[in-house]
Amino acid sequence: MTFLFNSDAKRGAIFAEAFARELPDIAFSMDPKSVEAEAVRYLITWTLPDDLARYRNLEILFSIGAGIDQFRIDAVPTWVKVVRMVEDGIIRMMQEYVTLSVLALHRDLPTYLDQQRRRTWQAVAPVQASNRRIGVLGLGMLGTAVLERLLPFGFPLSGWSRSPREIDGIRCLSGRDGLDTLLDTTDILVCLLPLTDETRGFLNAGLFARMPAGAALVHAGRGAQLDHRALVAALDAGHLSGAVIDVTEPEPLPADHAFWSHPKILLTPHIASVTQAETAAAAVIGNIKRYQAGLDPIGLIDRSRGY
Ligand code: GLV
Repeated sequence: MTFLFNSDAKRGAIFAEAFARELPDIAFSMDPKSVEAEAVRYLITWTLPDDLARYRNLEILFSIGAGIDQFRIDAVPTWVKVVRMVEDGIIRMMQEYVTLSVLALHRDLPTYLDQQRRRTWQAVAPVQASNRRIGVLGLGMLGTAVLERLLPFGFPLSGWSRSPREIDGIRCLSGRDGLDTLLDTTDILVCLLPLTDETRGFLNAGLFARMPAGAALVHAGRGAQLDHRALVAALDAGHLSGAVIDVTEPEPLPADHAFWSHPKILLTPHIASVTQAETAAAAVIGNIKRYQAGLDPIGLIDRSRGY
């Protein structure tokens, strides 16, 4: 029985060591050429290999990242379990990134960076945290962890998900009506939605128009969820006040794209959260042990939902 690792060798070495220690009965390979295809029961990768069909006995396909939208899921046999990466490193980094971004927008950092470039010394009237309403789109592992990390600052916190959720100290909204309520009452909107047919183009002109004047956006979901022109138009019209953008479509952005130099946009190159090898290896090993014990792996994809 073989676990095939298809990602960078540095991470692979850390996985190999953890597998040798924790799952010595599973052969660990980083070389698809030398591996006996029929022996491969587990595969971890970012994108699907062209010769996926060769692994006829594959049982679990693990994504090395938090999302699985990069897989052409229809090309994966229906009996194969598809599992996204849920690991402490990704969660912690996303908590850091969203906290950084929310505080940057809350404390008017884009304005002050712009003023610094123009040698302008001028205070903006501060808004207190208790008057800055934060709304998170997506209440999965990441959305929930981010909201919990934001709790001590004293912002009124809300989250929205497709189906109802309950989280201590957080106003949880769901469904179409819940989305309208969230948008009506959010000053900083954080997008952590998975990319599905339903969320493609989600952050569009209609959604921005629904938000209160002066609201801002943090986008750490997936690039294809954001209508770039609609964002620039809402910022230029003064309806939205700022945005922190980590994901775009395409990546990287072309050199002449408006986001690079827009004074109200802080742009980062898809670095909000990155799989950390030690914690990821522990998570994957834990999931194989769960599976061997007859339990569902954590992060198992529901194909009917697409995430
Ligand atoms: C990064 O975006 C990931 O999916 O891990």
